Amino acid sequence: MDIQQLIDDIARDIIPYLSAGKPADYIPALAGESATQFAMAVSTLDGQHFHTGLADKRFSIQSISKAFMLAQTLAQTGEALWQRVGKEPSGNPFNSLVQLEYEHGIPRNPFINAGALVVTDIAISQQGDSSAALRSFLREESGEEALDFDYVIASSEAEHGHRNAALAHFMKSCGNIGNPVDQVLAHYFRACSLRMSVRELARAGLFLANHGASPISGQQRLSRSQAKQVNAIMLTCGTYDAAGEFAYRVGLPCKSGVGGGILAILPGKMSIAVWSPGLDARGNSLAGLEALDRFTTRSGQSVF
Ligand code: DON
Repeated sequence: MDIQQLIDDIARDIIPYLSAGKPADYIPALAGESATQFAMAVSTLDGQHFHTGLADKRFSIQSISKAFMLAQTLAQTGEALWQRVGKEPSGNPFNSLVQLEYEHGIPRNPFINAGALVVTDIAISQQGDSSAALRSFLREESGEEALDFDYVIASSEAEHGHRNAALAHFMKSCGNIGNPVDQVLAHYFRACSLRMSVRELARAGLFLANHGASPISGQQRLSRSQAKQVNAIMLTCGTYDAAGEFAYRVGLPCKSGVGGGILAILPGKMSIAVWSPGLDARGNSLAGLEALDRFTTRSGQSVF
């Protein structure tokens, strides 16, 4: 398979989709991104790296951070993590409040906002500065010391983050948040604000493609079994109420973010990152989904 040719073809073919999506505007600092931008990068376990489009432009990774947060926290906590957060798809939007009261403050999974807030709370209890620990992890796994938080985006989200605050306060009332809500929210918003390019993201995802062992840092980040678990949750919950459509069309574990990025993992082979800020109605990159669908359909490579 000629991966470079394939992704160049995809970049050309998805042009009509670039104007169909709309950048997130509930975080005002994200609303200014032009929807017509596109980038894609592929890193393989045999050490090859391919890219097309604006592959060096850093963007706000938003909820993609949740996949790395989960990996880091699962590595430290092990199975005990699942006493505080579930592992079932929610079928609801990422910021939904409705299930949480019925389910006594235990979020359905670690990728909806409520679940990521619980994972952040656990990470703060373990590591103190959980967002700085995540930044170090991503610096090591991307090989880029310069990547950092975007404090403008983090404070823009904090100013408008009433739904996340509501989720966190409700869970605190149920006893499922241990640290002060303001501290949990600050670390969560900061983690979401990290800026990375698709090239950096594809590299950083390689440990998930390699059964937990990173070919970039040389570290065993997760056990083989934990890497399987994170990939499984990405497949079933990583794109929220569109997880069924992603599994059907892309057939890979994916984690999306409202900055327009998507990280996809082909276990045993490669990591793929795509970015285009125009989102569909469920908050996933519209052109990103189109690109990943074409990648797995044309290459015949997926987990199925
Ligand atoms: O908490 C939020 O709403 C954002 N910081 C992240 C949401 C997100 O990226 C959902 N992904 N598609």
